[in-house]
Amino acid sequence: MATFLIDLSPADMERRLTDALGVYVDAMRYPRGTEDQRASMWLEHTRRDGWKAVAAVEVADRPDAATATAAELTAAPIVGVAYGYCGAPDQWWQQQVVAGLHRVGTDGVRIAELMTSYFELTELHIHPRTQGRGLGEALTRRLLAGRGESHVLLSTPEINGESNRAWRLYRRLGFTDVIRGYHFAGDPRPFAILGRSLPL
Ligand SMILES: CC(C)(COP(=O)(O)OP(=O)(O)OC[C@H]1O[C@@H](n2cnc3c(N)ncnc32)[C@H](O)[C@@H]1OP(=O)(O)O)[C@@H](O)C(=O)NCCC(=O)NCCS
Repeated sequence: MATFLIDLSPADMERRLTDALGVYVDAMRYPRGTEDQRASMWLEHTRRDGWKAVAAVEVADRPDAATATAAELTAAPIVGVAYGYCGAPDQWWQQQVVAGLHRVGTDGVRIAELMTSYFELTELHIHPRTQGRGLGEALTRRLLAGRGESHVLLSTPEINGESNRAWRLYRRLGFTDVIRGYHFAGDPRPFAILGRSLPL
């Protein structure tokens, strides 16, 4: 199989939502059925300012062609998906992060600086079968290319020793700590908020 990276429009995301959410659930090892709870949120996100999504798709190898046709790419199964949008004060995630920043004593000027112009990297998932080939990094680079925001922020579950692929990827790309061990409302797991300046 050959893997290609593509951009997804909001209509593409809507059409391929089941496929994309399947990758998310398998990558995060969430129980089947989680995708049903997430579907409306992923669709609502497509309407946010600055929303952008990218995907990795698999096309059967053909010895006669170096590239896939548009029709092949449209029909090809998704093996990786990433999206994000501009952060804004009416978003739950930003409100949670601001509360966390106050809690750790960050001063108001720094909070304003952090919250004024950022791209939230909301979701990044590669199917377990295709992890560890550089696809996550390639999708991240494609998603962040040409952004107008001054920096990118994301949250990721805390893992002992930062010893998983997500942490290794973010550190390799130069993400640094914004908040550690943060508990989002309603989630018992500790998360890290990480960020870095743009362009990547
Ligand atoms: C985190 C995640 C998105 C990273 O994507 P990935 O494609 O697996 O990983 P990367 O793009 O960082 O690639 C790194 C690996 O690919 C290898 N690699 C890098 N470039 C490569 C290339 N051109 N060819 C082959 N392999 C390559 C690296 O050696 C590295 O392997 P290692 O981790 O075994 O040392 C993915 O593993 C995933 O979906 N994990 C589960 C869900 C998750 O944690 N999401 C993030 C939550 S915030």
